[in-house]
Amino acid sequence: MNASSPSPAQNQVSPATLYGGVTNRRVTVRDLAAAKQRGEKWSMLTAYDALTAGVFDEAGIPVLLVGDSAGNCHLGYETTVPVTMDQMVMLSAAVVRGTKRAMVVADLPFGSYQESPAQAMHNAARLMKEAGVGAVKLEGGERSARSIELLTEAGVPVMAHIGLTPQSVHALGGYPVQGRGDEAAHQLLRDAKAVQQAGAFSVVLEAVPAELAKQVTEQLAIPTVGIGGGPDTDAQVLVWTDMAGMTAGRVPKFVKQYANLRAVLGDAARAYAEDVRAGTFPAAEHSFH
Ligand code: KIV
Repeated sequence: MNASSPSPAQNQVSPATLYGGVTNRRVTVRDLAAAKQRGEKWSMLTAYDALTAGVFDEAGIPVLLVGDSAGNCHLGYETTVPVTMDQMVMLSAAVVRGTKRAMVVADLPFGSYQESPAQAMHNAARLMKEAGVGAVKLEGGERSARSIELLTEAGVPVMAHIGLTPQSVHALGGYPVQGRGDEAAHQLLRDAKAVQQAGAFSVVLEAVPAELAKQVTEQLAIPTVGIGGGPDTDAQVLVWTDMAGMTAGRVPKFVKQYANLRAVLGDAARAYAEDVRAGTFPAAEHSFH
């Protein structure tokens, strides 16, 4: 075995559990497929920088998504629409550098894949070669199937994203729940089957009725990842700033906030500023002599 050969542990097909699992290698698409087989639910979080991604990696989160939600959650835009390929490459490379174990999935941003499968391939290759991600995500069901097929054939693992597709915010007139009513539900099922048929290794279901997400999950062999899709999808994803209470103002109904980081960070900043104003920081123990 030479220095770059995988050790037996790295070669193992599937860890006993995805969450916090015991491997010293990155989670792969095969691990996610095995988790669906054994009925293990898993979690995905977004990440946009090395530091935060490292915290989630150490916490055992098996899949990290460099979402184009970076646009509104990290870069100060109102929507995901303005996000560019260069920004996605830079953020994704940071997340890869900050992690050892999580599978890192990067979004193809608006305008980077809709023109043609060849354009999708060009930009997916940039994310894999320049940032080192393990998979890409793109929005659209039947309409994106040809691109998913080409990417998959070329060896790019693809996570699809159907239901509410935020890159279409202007066409949708906001962020309405999708899949309500018979025709819309049938279209969602057709979209889910189309992306599976095209080779996607998993599919995000965003803002769809829980009963429909359950039906899709039961009918697909690939894992479904819900966000606003109720409790019965194979996995769940949240935007990390929503999950940890960093987001200012209202968060969507489907978010559960597990901390109030915005308050914690604000309190820390105010305490620091107050110490500086009062002359109590730096103290003797913070000073060189
Ligand atoms: O960009 C993103 O964060 C996403 C998730 C909402 C799934 O696509």
